[in-house]
Amino acid sequence: MIVALDEKNGIGRNNKLLCRLSGDMKNFKELTTGHPVIMGRKTFESLPKGALPNRVNIVLTKDEEKIFDDAISCSSIDEVMNLRVIKNCEKCFVIGGAEIYKHFFDLADKLYVTSIRHTFEDADVFFPEIDIDNWRINSVSDEFKADEKNEFPYFFAVYERIR
Ligand SMILES: NC(=O)c1ccc[n+]([C@@H]2O[C@H](COP(=O)([O-])OP(=O)(O)OC[C@H]3O[C@@H](n4cnc5c(N)ncnc54)[C@H](OP(=O)(O)O)[C@@H]3O)[C@@H](O)[C@H]2O)c1
Repeated sequence: MIVALDEKNGIGRNNKLLCRLSGDMKNFKELTTGHPVIMGRKTFESLPKGALPNRVNIVLTKDEEKIFDDAISCSSIDEVMNLRVIKNCEKCFVIGGAEIYKHFFDLADKLYVTSIRHTFEDADVFFPEIDIDNWRINSVSDEFKADEKNEFPYFFAVYERIR
């Protein structure tokens, strides 16, 4: 899973991201390009330019009739897990939002987290609690300071599931 969260695990509001940090966007693109990405219908609809390029986009919706531009539509987690592109890939990314993170949380091996050093009081969707009994920190970056392209300070952390 890959997520940008604030200090209270907030991830979005009004079907938008809490903020757009250029460093986070770059990191997201670098990590996910070339790999399938799995997301909920609301997150897909929030993408400013539609499907993410150079990645197989998989969108979950309960509406079995729904068709998305440049994306595969699935109506259950099982259907996603049984896609050939998922079964045959070395790595895939669950990219949100809150409902989809919750569904896949127990299946994920790794969490790529951007921690935003800010609390957005109006956040309305949240990432599940990362419980230290089940997850160990694999790596943590230095903190990146706020600048003209990044409104808030942030750092990256990678968690690995304890097996
Ligand atoms: N900070 C981050 O890293 C990050 C990343 C991604 C998204 N976000 C934010 O998260 C928010 C969106 O999250 P959200 O929880 O509201 O929506 P979401 O998880 O993106 O999408 C929810 C939709 O997924 C479909 N769905 C959910 N469970 C399903 C299941 N078991 N089977 C089939 N389809 C299923 C349903 O679509 P239908 O209603 O069509 O049936 C549901 O309405 C936005 O604010 C977005 O900006 C933040």
